[in-house]
Amino acid sequence: MALVMVGCSDELPPPPPQPIAFSHSVHIENEIECTRCHEGVETQAQAGLPAMAACASCHRRQAADHPEVVKFMEQYANGNGEPMVWRKVHVIPTSAMVHFKHSPHVRAGVDCATCHGDVGSMTVAQQVVDVANMGWCLDCHREQDASIDCMTCHH
Ligand code: HEC
Ligand code: HEC
Ligand code: HEC
Ligand code: HEC
Ligand code: HEC
Repeated sequence: MALVMVGCSDELPPPPPQPIAFSHSVHIENEIECTRCHEGVETQAQAGLPAMAACASCHRRQAADHPEVVKFMEQYANGNGEPMVWRKVHVIPTSAMVHFKHSPHVRAGVDCATCHGDVGSMTVAQQVVDVANMGWCLDCHREQDASIDCMTCHH
């Protein structure tokens, strides 16, 4: 599969700090599917992030003495139901008034890796393609006969 790369990865912002060190690769090695944690990708605009309760359902027992799991479970227990504040890695500025939707892409068979790189082998999720780039969206839409009408993407 050809990766659509735009620009050079060192022009991209570094990954933002996260509240705990969450590793994708550890989970993917344990054969946990992307959709288990990002439940919206097939049906919603947003991929979504898992609720703390979903992480806790495994981690009450799984790796319960790992220091990052201990930190997580403490926040879960003491957080009064507040969700974990994960910081966004991929950001399309709201000023562009763009509505990106995951579901049509996933249904059309566009791989996560085409837009996000091989997240499953990353310890820290980071951007490898600049997604806030209209030219990148349009190039693929032209190649794959998807709509390039302004109103498809802009409000
Ligand atoms: C066509 C490109 C594309 C594909 C394919 C794609 N994404 Fe995304 N993804 C994006 C863009 C663009 C954003 C930023 C959206 C925004 O800022 O509104 C994003 C954001 C996200 C986010 C964080 C925000 C959210 O939507 O909840 C997650 C998690 C995510 N993607 C996971 C996935 C997974 C898992 C897959 C594969 C099943 C996938 N993506 C496929 C382009 C893509
Ligand atoms: C389906 C079960 C499952 C879910 C859901 C799950 N994990 Fe895990 N997690 C695992 C397994 C399995 C490991 C590896 C344990 C080992 O190696 O002993 C792991 C490892 C970890 C580790 C240790 C990482 C390391 O570097 O070794 C952390 C921290 C962690 N998970 C956090 C989370 C968080 C936060 C969530 C929710 C966003 C989550 N997990 C959801 C099963 C799960
Ligand atoms: C065990 C739960 C879990 C699994 C499985 C998982 N993710 Fe994630 N993902 C998270 C969490 C938690 C975050 C937020 C923290 C971070 O950015 O590292 C995240 C963040 C992301 C982001 C960055 C979103 C943003 O802010 O822009 C992308 C992209 C992503 N995941 C893609 C994937 C893909 C692709 C897979 C499957 C190969 C996958 N994830 C599997 C829990 C998971
Ligand atoms: C790698 C290829 C690729 C990239 C990159 C891509 N798209 Fe798409 N997009 C598609 C395909 C394929 C479809 C599905 C077309 C269909 O179902 O007819 C689609 C559909 C859409 C739709 C739904 C259109 C409809 O008719 O409902 C929107 C909205 C959209 N894309 C926005 C974006 C935005 C915004 C970006 C950039 C941030 C982007 N896309 C990047 C391939 C891509
Ligand atoms: C496939 C999706 C897509 C289509 C179709 C599209 N755009 Fe965009 N557009 C974007 C994205 C994503 C951005 C934000 C990133 C950037 O500025 O490059 C953007 C940014 C812009 C901006 C800059 C906004 C700002 O705040 O800087 C303008 C102006 C714009 N688009 C106009 C248009 C016009 C006019 C059309 C129709 C001829 C069009 N776009 C079609 C996705 C799209």
